[in-house]
Order: sequence, then C-alpha cells, then structure tokens
Amino acid sequence: MLDVSRKIDCVVDEGQAIAESIIAQQSTHAGQATTLPPQAYHSESFFQLEKEKIFRQDWLFIGHISQIPQVGDYFSIDIIDEPLLCTRSEEGIRVMSRVCLHRWVPIVEGSGNAKVLVCPFHNWSYNIQGQLVGAPQMNQAEDFDRKSCQLPQIRSEIVAGMIFITFSAEVEPLATRLAPVLPLFEKYHFAELQTAYPLDYDCPFNWKMAVETFMECYHHSAVHRTTLEDSFPGRLSYIGEDGPGWTFCHQPLRKNGDISEVLTAGLLPFAGMSEEDLRRIDLMLIYPFCLIGLNPDRISISTLLPLNSAMTQWHRLVLVSRESMQQEGFADTAEMMKNSSTAIIAEDLEINSLQRRGSRSQLARPGRLGHLEKTVWHLANYIKSKLR
Ligand code: FES
Ligand SMILES: [Fe+2]
Repeated sequence: MLDVSRKIDCVVDEGQAIAESIIAQQSTHAGQATTLPPQAYHSESFFQLEKEKIFRQDWLFIGHISQIPQVGDYFSIDIIDEPLLCTRSEEGIRVMSRVCLHRWVPIVEGSGNAKVLVCPFHNWSYNIQGQLVGAPQMNQAEDFDRKSCQLPQIRSEIVAGMIFITFSAEVEPLATRLAPVLPLFEKYHFAELQTAYPLDYDCPFNWKMAVETFMECYHHSAVHRTTLEDSFPGRLSYIGEDGPGWTFCHQPLRKNGDISEVLTAGLLPFAGMSEEDLRRIDLMLIYPFCLIGLNPDRISISTLLPLNSAMTQWHRLVLVSRESMQQEGFADTAEMMKNSSTAIIAEDLEINSLQRRGSRSQLARPGRLGHLEKTVWHLANYIKSKLR
C-alpha cells in the first residue's frame, strides 16, 4: 500500500531542502552572485514555503486610493488564496475578507459602488464596513447573533496613495521601512495620481521570473531589441545598493536621445521633473512583488498574484496626473499606451515561458549573474533573509 504520509514528508522535504541550499549557498558578495537554484522556480513545496514565510509575512500591494474615490466604492482582489475586498466608507479605506460568513462564497467580484453587498448564494448582505446586515430565513438558527457577524478585517496601510495589506501582526509598519523613499513618491505625486487603466495578464511561470525580468535591463538587447533597446540600451542601465525593503534599476535614455522617446504618449510631465528626470525611466521593486515603473509622465504599479509555482497573474495599474487625464483625446492616448505596453509584455512573456521550460531540466544549475542583474541578486538575498 502507498505510504501517503511518507510521500507528503518527501514533498515537504523538497521545499525545505531548496530553502536550506539557498541559505547555505547564496553569495553574500555581488561579484560572486548566482541565481537561486532552478528548482526554486518550479517546486510546489518550495512555493508553499514562500507563501508561509514570505507572502504571508510581508506587505503586499493591492491597489491605489484613486480606484475608490467615493464613499461606497469598492474593489476586490484575490491574493495568495485570500479573496479580499477594499472599500471606502465615511470612516476611510479598509480591507477585509470577502468570504461570506455563511458558506464561503466570495460576496462580490470586480469593482463598483454600493451601500450593501449581497452574497449571490443565499442573499446574506453586508454593509460597506463588512458588517452583516441581513440574513434571510435564519430565525430558527438558535443563538445566531447577526450583529456580531463581521467580515474579518485585514491589516492595511496606505503609503503615498498605495494600499498595502499584510497577514502578519508582527511585521513593522510599512511607512517606517519605506521612510527613505517617501520623498521620491512625493516627487512623483503618487498620492494625487489617477488610475488611467488596469492591465491584467497571465504569466505561465513562477512569480520570481516575472519580478527579475521586470527589474533588469540586461535582456533589452536580445528580448526588446526592436522595442526598447534603441532608446534604453540595457548596457547603460545601472543598479545601486538595495534598501531594507526595496531595490531600483535605473534606465537612462540613450546618449543624444530626445525626450520625446521618454514622453512617448504625449502626456504632460509631472510638475517639478528635472532635465535628468525627463531622460530616464526608473524601475523599483518593493519586496516581495510590488513592481513600480517611474516615468516622468506616468507611473505603473503592479502586484503579482502568484497562484502556484507555475502560474502568476500580473495586475498592473497605470497612473497619470489629473491634468493628463483631462487632456482631449485621452481615451485614444490610453489605448495607444496599452497597445505599446502589451507588445513589450508579450516579448517578456515569451522569454519567461522559455525560461520556465529550461528551468525544469535536470541539468539546470544556478547561473552566474552580471552587474546589470544586481537586482536579481537583491531579490535572492531578500528571499534568503525570509527563509532563515
Ligand atoms: S454563502 Fe453567502 S449567503 Fe450563503
Ligand atoms: Fe522586459
């Protein structure tokens, strides 16, 4: 007979063994850096470990305040198997579970504005604060106290207009950790920007591949040779030291390039941008997977929604100034921006899908990293610190 418990032990051991090899082998010196072991990108048991030790223990970006400007506005998001609801009431913004207290159906999908949200299974209804306000035909359920029924609230924090959540009661406040970069968020007017549009797509590969590829420009000359490389040659990109919760990759415009190559959409640059700011696009990662693109006329903020070791959903918000959004023809501009992002994203999706295939080879080993990929090493160091 199959010994199921032994089999489970083996699977758990695999994730633990990968974690131990990362702790033992990950280089502490950038010049010696290698990738994580390829198994860390497809082991389901290692993914479960990441979920418990990283995703559930740190701050995760879920949205921007401009998505819910009015009282009654809400949006839903599913992150690491938790269906969540973010609402704005008279008291402010809050995040809660949207799993019905009755028999677990998520009470709402998508976004909208409502006073009351009604579960589609048996019509239990909740107000925008998550309080149960209606439960039809429950009068024979003994000791059922409707008033004490409240959707579980999730710890959340708003930093420069960005809404983050955590499932940890212990992790330090995010604003404290991000204090050194708050002036940068202010410079780019994060809290006043408006959501122009969301962009969602499926990534048939591990979440770390998506983060790493977003955060290095080394691949421009191969993967984006006809789209990005001319204006933003990968060899000109540079990466400094990482902070206690983030890292940056800087992408300067090519020498003698024109700022129209940065301001491609015809949007108004943000107030206060310097000559140098107009000639660069910076990429920022807030660990573990909040990805920010800082352009002088727009920013994008993404959260990854890892479903399992091999499947990740990418949820990106593109934010612009109110003035840009009010420009004539903005709908066409947004469409054009979406199309050009989609073309670049398609190039990344294709290469990461191939990378995923190769990483499953029995012969695949950790690879050496160059200076243009220091952010890949930064992410590995962050992961290592969480696995200890
Ligand atoms: S599961 Fe929501 S009302 Fe029954
Ligand atoms: Fe790319």
